[in-house]
Amino acid sequence: MYRTNTCGELRIAHVGQEVTLCGWVQRSRDLGGMTFIDLRDRYGITQLAFNMDTNAALCEQARRLGREYVVQAVGRVIERSSKNAKLPTGDVEIEVSSLKVLSAAQTPPFTIEDISDGGDDLRMKYRYLDLRRNPVRRNLELRHHMAQLIRNYLSRLDFLEIETPFLIKSTPEGARDFVVPSRMNPGEFYALPQSPQQYKQLLMVAGMDKYFQIVRCFRDEDLRADRQPEFTQVDCEMSFVEQEDVLDTFEGLIKHLFEELKQVKFEPFMRMSWHDAMRFYGSDKPDLRFGMQFVELNDVVKGHGFSLFDAAELVVGICAEGCAEYTRKQLDELTEFVKRPQVGAGGMVYIKYNADGSFKSSVDKFYSAEVLQQVAARFGAKPGDLMLLLAGPAMKTRKQLCELRLEMGRRLGLRRPDCFASLWVVDFPLLEWDEETQRYYAMHHPFTAPKPEDEALLDDPARWGDIRANAYDMVINGVEVGGGSVRIHESGLQNRMFHTLGFTDEQAAAQFGFLMNAFSYGAPPHAGLAFGFDRLCSLFGGADSIRDFIAFPKNNSGRDVMSGSPSPIAQEQLDELQLDVRPTAAGK
Ligand code: AMO
Repeated sequence: MYRTNTCGELRIAHVGQEVTLCGWVQRSRDLGGMTFIDLRDRYGITQLAFNMDTNAALCEQARRLGREYVVQAVGRVIERSSKNAKLPTGDVEIEVSSLKVLSAAQTPPFTIEDISDGGDDLRMKYRYLDLRRNPVRRNLELRHHMAQLIRNYLSRLDFLEIETPFLIKSTPEGARDFVVPSRMNPGEFYALPQSPQQYKQLLMVAGMDKYFQIVRCFRDEDLRADRQPEFTQVDCEMSFVEQEDVLDTFEGLIKHLFEELKQVKFEPFMRMSWHDAMRFYGSDKPDLRFGMQFVELNDVVKGHGFSLFDAAELVVGICAEGCAEYTRKQLDELTEFVKRPQVGAGGMVYIKYNADGSFKSSVDKFYSAEVLQQVAARFGAKPGDLMLLLAGPAMKTRKQLCELRLEMGRRLGLRRPDCFASLWVVDFPLLEWDEETQRYYAMHHPFTAPKPEDEALLDDPARWGDIRANAYDMVINGVEVGGGSVRIHESGLQNRMFHTLGFTDEQAAAQFGFLMNAFSYGAPPHAGLAFGFDRLCSLFGGADSIRDFIAFPKNNSGRDVMSGSPSPIAQEQLDELQLDVRPTAAGK
């Protein structure tokens, strides 16, 4: 037997027992007469003690152990003379009687402690060492626990977990596909699924009624803190349901996770239309941990000779409570912030509502105190508040103000990771115009149903932009954690949708024929959604980046720096696949 106990297990009640422990040498301290070693495994740290007087040879052996050596120690549990209240095992230590090195170790390139001295790149390169650190290991434990809770909850509701294929047909909608060449069918390719969307709909046609899967998805898109090229969805679909049934079921799931993991009980989630989310927060995923709702000011501020406002499609602002004391420097920083290329505003106007009731603004020349008072009234501002205004084309300006609002929320400490504000954003537009290709795209995907009351608008191309979908996103703390829709289940409506998206009958048949064919054999009304599992984990773990909740993530260039993928492949492999690849700088 390698071990009788783990390194996190021993307490005062074990004193006197003979134990065998295995683990990694976290640290050793040589105090002359005594040598101490912190032995670490996944479960904790236990102190090993070696006494020069009673066993000099063993003590010498212990002194030679380097960091991260893997050892087995046999000994007796004794009470420590100086206890360590910070460690659960801190009341005891092991009086070691024999020690065996199971594996020597090179000195690790960074310290394997809660706070490491290793930079991001180094820790990614040696991810298996980073995973030995408590904070990263705890993230994976949380992930495991969440997966268990989700599986149990959905299974109790009669959902079946069913696997769908990874090698599927490439479809042009959505993000870019990762493709896989087929050796047996030269010149042909599979795609890795961006989601199991079509398969889960086929499972509904197959009568499975309630499906879920914790499943890897692949998207070849630009990466950010909350996006990985391969990520995991909790993918779900239900038959004979309406939007309300889906929202109910999955709100229940998320509330269950919060109750189990955070001991937080939620009121029913708020609902907000996409239109209101854009208008009042400039985003389809508003962070509602704090207010600062947008206020539109066209009617108050136009016509006073300030050409920037007069010419703008929209003048809109936020009110930061208690910030009228902001200094010149702080206001300049905010102006610089909105002018950054990532935000893209031309500038920012401020209006301070001073504690004494007077106003000080960057546009005093154009506006009397009476007009500024009207502006303040529109915001519901009080003396001591600061109003920040942007102007320009409506949608663009709202998005810029969204960034400024989030920045103010951050500066004022209003985006606390231990606070949770959840909502459903509903009534998304069905279609989205793309300037570049001059056509409409499905905002969610082509199988999403329009709202029945808007269906007639499909006959009027001038109104396509106004059609609302039975589509919904769950947003928590400004993160889109999941989204889905009611699906089209009638072939007639699905064909109209394909035509709207510019597909000819032949193109639609070539791309989606198998799904349409299946629908002709009796498709139940169905609806579903998918959660971004990595995002849920990072939200529960109180972090912004999903990377630390994935055992082996890719970096921002989509590389696995540890294994060195992607990488060129051998000419023989290319030949076998009948691929003619021109050498690139990286591949030479
Ligand atoms: P959608 O494309 O909205 O819907 O994806 C569902 C959820 O998956 C998460 N997500 C990601 N997480 C990490 N990295 C990525 N690159 C990434 N892309 C998406 C988000 C998102 O809300 N088939 C539909 C769902 C449905 O209609 O049932 C779908 O995939 O949290």
